[in-house]
Amino acid sequence: MDTKIVHSNVTVGENGHLLFAGADTVSLAEKYGTPVFLLDDARVRTRVREYKEAMARNFGEGSMPLFASKSLSFKEIYRMMAEEGIGTDIVSSGELFTAVCAGFPMERAFFHGNNKTDFDISYAIEHRIGYFIVDSIEELTLIDEYAEKAGIRQKILLRLTPGIDPHTHQKISTGGVDSKFGSAIETGLAKKMTKAALSKQSVELCGFHCHIGSQIFEIEPYITAADIMLGFIADMREEFGFTAKILNLGGGFGVRYVESDPEINITANIDAIGAHVRALCAQKEIPLPTIYMEPGRSIVADAGMTLYTVGSVKEIEGFKNYVSIDGGMTDNPRYTLYQSAYTIRIANRADETADFCCTVGGRCCESGDLIQENVLLPKPKRGDILAVLVTGAYNYSMASNYNRVTKPPVVVLRDGEEILAVRRERFEDLVACDI
Ligand code: LLP
Repeated sequence: MDTKIVHSNVTVGENGHLLFAGADTVSLAEKYGTPVFLLDDARVRTRVREYKEAMARNFGEGSMPLFASKSLSFKEIYRMMAEEGIGTDIVSSGELFTAVCAGFPMERAFFHGNNKTDFDISYAIEHRIGYFIVDSIEELTLIDEYAEKAGIRQKILLRLTPGIDPHTHQKISTGGVDSKFGSAIETGLAKKMTKAALSKQSVELCGFHCHIGSQIFEIEPYITAADIMLGFIADMREEFGFTAKILNLGGGFGVRYVESDPEINITANIDAIGAHVRALCAQKEIPLPTIYMEPGRSIVADAGMTLYTVGSVKEIEGFKNYVSIDGGMTDNPRYTLYQSAYTIRIANRADETADFCCTVGGRCCESGDLIQENVLLPKPKRGDILAVLVTGAYNYSMASNYNRVTKPPVVVLRDGEEILAVRRERFEDLVACDI
């Protein structure tokens, strides 16, 4: 019998407790307090290796995933990615600083963002960032200037918008012509940017980047993106005699949050993209570039779980039932922002019948602070441990201190041991910047 709940690292023990990566979640909640984020180390590494192996096999040595660390950023995660030998995508000096503190090799770091400040550019150059992914003409000019001052030739990729609608939530769709990110191929801006980059003395244009969006389950948008990008590469070769060495296809593979979501086969997807890219390169008579991808969610999402404690259970007769927990939009704003679906269980009674329909609400003074609506649970009571599954991506990294709520700790579960990777915030941390 298949006893997993959504993913194979979530099961129910003989004592009726929810197990995560083999560990008893009720004991973990007792030991670390709630809310607490758990991270299944083996799951993260399995996903990384899946990408790494499939990409090297399809695109040759040197091709690899760059972990999109906006999905989860703290020192230990950069150490894990460094150990696995892959790159990382960072989007701010704060993420860069965290990676530097973790000893992440900067030559494998790629600096993203649609509005890098002067400080971002000089700081990243000071730390000898591997690549900038250049988003605008202003940025290109500044990188050239700062690189010249530093006496280096800075490697860059240009971020392009291929003009694709990947059928995902509008707020996480980024590949359209009207996106705030990158330069559109369709309008001719991408070509102008290429020309400008090739004319700069202190930047080395290595290739191009695109990212069409996030939580994408279909393969077609990637195939279309690859077609358009390789077409552009062929055009630039003809137009300027420039042969791109690198093509970065971005991130975005979808993740199963609830039983009804499909589960993407990363290897099969990369094999399909790989076959297409190789055939297209042959057809267009261009050398196969080194291919990078930037997965975030599909590496860490199902490696994460959040545990909370149930507080009040309010039954509004004739309307709905509210179950309030000791966290909420401050550690997981995704329902509030995108109405994201989540799977929820009562961890200490995971084997009981779920027949109580309720809305799981957070503790903030905000009606929209909800984690999920219309959830079926065994009727919760104060003190129960509530587990929200698949919270590894864009939860801890999007956490806030709204209402001066402290951020939860992150406990990494590794080889049967627990590593406190991020301690719980203290009240002193809340006033650390206050004068
Ligand atoms: N590369 C670039 C340039 C990106 O903008 C992103 C995500 C990724 C890679 C990683 O995409 P992933 O593999 O994680 O789908 N906060 C939203 C997601 C925002 C995604 C932003 N960019 C959420 O919680 O769904």
